[in-house]
Amino acid sequence: MTTRVVDETCIDLEEPSDCALAVSAARSMAGQAGFNTADQVFFATAVSELATNIVRYAGRGGRVTLRILHNLENVGLEVAAQDSGPGIENVEAAMTDHFSSGDSLGLGLPSVKRIMDEFEIQSEPGRGTLIVGRKWRA
Ligand SMILES: Nc1ncnc2c1ncn2[C@@H]1O[C@H](COP(=O)(O)OP(=O)(O)OP(=O)(O)O)[C@@H](O)[C@H]1O
Ligand SMILES: [Mg+2]
Repeated sequence: MTTRVVDETCIDLEEPSDCALAVSAARSMAGQAGFNTADQVFFATAVSELATNIVRYAGRGGRVTLRILHNLENVGLEVAAQDSGPGIENVEAAMTDHFSSGDSLGLGLPSVKRIMDEFEIQSEPGRGTLIVGRKWRA
């Protein structure tokens, strides 16, 4: 089925305060897309986790791109989180609850996967990481 991008915004992530910009953009795009309040918060939470990971583990130069999608049946939200940091050595481990290389809870990526309807992760050691998640309106 054809999916069209009807709106797009990109937030460059240089420092922790940029994560807050990404979160508020996510919340407002979700509202604009007609998502209910709970799902606006879920989507913003997923964006927060991805943006925080980029600042924490990939350093500068990453970004999140937020998109509103339309297909014939529904409206969706997409987040693409991209960085050219060190990559994730073991993606399977990173997707496991409580795995953290940073002495944190290790719940970010598994939560993002649970929140989104579609989730893809591509990471290459030394080259960076691209994570794309999509959530369709309930
Ligand atoms: N963009 C990234 N670049 C490199 N490594 C990453 C990136 N995102 C995640 N990781 C790796 O994947 C692990 C798991 O990420 P996840 O977000 O689930 O947990 P966390 O960030 O360690 O803890 P929490 O998100 O609960 O505070 C991280 O500890 C880190 O090793
Ligand atoms: Mg995290």
